[in-house]
Amino acid sequence: MAVFKFDIRSLFPQPIVKVDSSLLPHTFHGNRRQALEVTAKMSAIIDHLGQLSAIAQKLNIPITTAQKLRKSDNQIVYLMADLAELNSGRGDEVVGLLKIGMKDLYLFDELGQSRKVDNAPCILDFYVHDKRQRSGLGKKLFQTMLSEEKWEPVKCSVDRPSEKLLGFLKKHYGLEHVIPQANHFVLYDGFFEHDKANE
Ligand code: ACO
Repeated sequence: MAVFKFDIRSLFPQPIVKVDSSLLPHTFHGNRRQALEVTAKMSAIIDHLGQLSAIAQKLNIPITTAQKLRKSDNQIVYLMADLAELNSGRGDEVVGLLKIGMKDLYLFDELGQSRKVDNAPCILDFYVHDKRQRSGLGKKLFQTMLSEEKWEPVKCSVDRPSEKLLGFLKKHYGLEHVIPQANHFVLYDGFFEHDKANE
């Protein structure tokens, strides 16, 4: 049985959609009444995937909810669907979620000097359905985000990465050497490189 009580097909005209604080997929074109309907459905999807992500990460409170996204001013949730799974009965037709945002952070550089970085790109929450991990879906979702945002992996700060995400970043992007921080963000060697060139 499908997880959602509505047909997700109209919400995913393409496998990956972007959702901002409007709670509408970036592909949406419609009137006000349709927008209300779509935001309600998108909220249900975001809340469900956010909850699965929290369970996978053993968190008491989800990092991603529709309400948090609605209140944010610079966060985006990427959602990935697999419409071929719609009738599989496995409940994994929406297979992935990736929440990103920009934050002003106090960070240490490679020399241990404290710096304030405005609008640092942040990976905030990332989840691929338990039954579908390690089959390349995470890479597809992350790669789409990088090209949409025009972000480089080495310039991303990662909020409390799990072992799986650390492994993912090493495998796909060669990110390994961490610059130690006092907060829960992980940065990699190369994060500050461009800044230095401009100094
Ligand atoms: N154990 C160790 N490494 C893993 C695992 C695992 N169970 N699953 C994925 N990885 C890493 C490995 O490097 C793996 O390569 P390998 O199979 O050759 O060892 C690589 O990711 C696989 O790449 P993809 O198939 O493209 O990634 P996937 O679709 O599995 O998505 C993700 C990666 C999102 C981390 C997924 O595994 C997941 O949802 N994990 C559970 C939730 C989680 O830990 N999310 C990150 C929380 S931290 C944050 O969001 C800031």
